[in-house]
Amino acid sequence: MSDMAERSTQLIVALDMDAPQDALRLVRRLGPSVDWYKVGNQLFTRHGPETVRALKGMGKQVFLDLKFHDIPNTVAHAVGSAAAIGADMTNVHAGGGPAMLAEAARAGREAGILVIAVTVLTSMGPADIQAVGVHDTPEAQVLRLASLARDCGLPGVVCSALEIGPVRRACGNGFVLVVPGIRPAGAAAGDQVRIMTPGGARAAGATFVVVGRPVYAAADPEATARTIREELDGKG
Ligand code: C5P
Repeated sequence: MSDMAERSTQLIVALDMDAPQDALRLVRRLGPSVDWYKVGNQLFTRHGPETVRALKGMGKQVFLDLKFHDIPNTVAHAVGSAAAIGADMTNVHAGGGPAMLAEAARAGREAGILVIAVTVLTSMGPADIQAVGVHDTPEAQVLRLASLARDCGLPGVVCSALEIGPVRRACGNGFVLVVPGIRPAGAAAGDQVRIMTPGGARAAGATFVVVGRPVYAAADPEATARTIREELDGKG
């Protein structure tokens, strides 16, 4: 095991729902056991910064997952806007290319927000990336985009647990790896393809794991989050 494998991995719970009241009810139920929450396109498109501000008021850390993919000037300003509403972390698509990534990195440093790059969505398998013109394995494409993001000055990437090892080796122990597609043993995969258990992602060296449906759709979200936390702390 590498020394990364000995470190605990942080849990980010995804608030993929329509109503801020439902999101904040879950946050209150989970209490101090979860520090980080992800606000994504579903909630943000309907209600804007409201939930981000409420989470910050509750002392939480916020990952604003809007996956910016636009021209460099627009993305740089979007990163500034994410910081202005209080987000601690946001992301851009690595496929936006070197100029966009470098501008996003600069804007993130200036605004004091962690900006990471999405490599290949965890819902995509080999046939899906072939369909969009990438004639390579998902792992090779993730590595290519992670190295590009690092070279452009970004501090980390979003990748699946299956690519953590190669990306760590290429980009180093300080690189932030945010890993969705996490499924506790026995949980439904849904639309996710490149998946792993929380304990597997921790052992591989994830910095953060992002978990949505397995927590918010659970009969007992508190117990599920607690079990995931124990796995991430290496007690599972
Ligand atoms: O419900 P589930 O655990 O699959 O949620 C995963 C979350 O992570 C979703 O909010 C999804 O948008 C996000 N995500 C992802 N794959 C990426 C980047 C973000 O699944 N590459």
